[in-house]
Amino acid sequence: KRLLLVNGPNLNLLGTREPQIYGHETLADVVALAERVAAEEGLEIRAVQSNHEGMLIDAIHEAREDCAGIVINPGGLTHTSVVLRDALAGVGLPIAEVHLSNVHAREEFRHHSFVSGIASCVIAGAGIQGYEFAIRRLARVMGETPT
Ligand code: DQA
Repeated sequence: KRLLLVNGPNLNLLGTREPQIYGHETLADVVALAERVAAEEGLEIRAVQSNHEGMLIDAIHEAREDCAGIVINPGGLTHTSVVLRDALAGVGLPIAEVHLSNVHAREEFRHHSFVSGIASCVIAGAGIQGYEFAIRRLARVMGETPT
């Protein structure tokens, strides 16, 4: 089985972008961690990052063909995008929403997520370890509902 790992806008800048908020690890570190954890769970990872909403939507649609779950950090699209939510709901796969920072301890506009209402689990404030939790959780959830 395979998981789609989606990182949204600006997450390509991880490591240098506001490190006091997002930490010093890079996107490559996130992908390496995800691949290691997924392998331990007997899963493969397909990793995508884009700054373009439509690219993310296309990747999510394609996941219907060959993925059993989606781990997504939608970046700022979390707080703005009905389109992204509809795509995630549309493919009907279990979704784990990840935020590096604790969005609830930050600005008011980060408190609402369009994705959370259709997510199987939501993890915020655990840094890149959040991706590990998300993968292990989806592995469990997918085991309960074989696809
Ligand atoms: C983020 C939180 C969002 O509010 C922000 O726009 C991001 C990153 C996080 O991982 O903490 O781009 O999703």
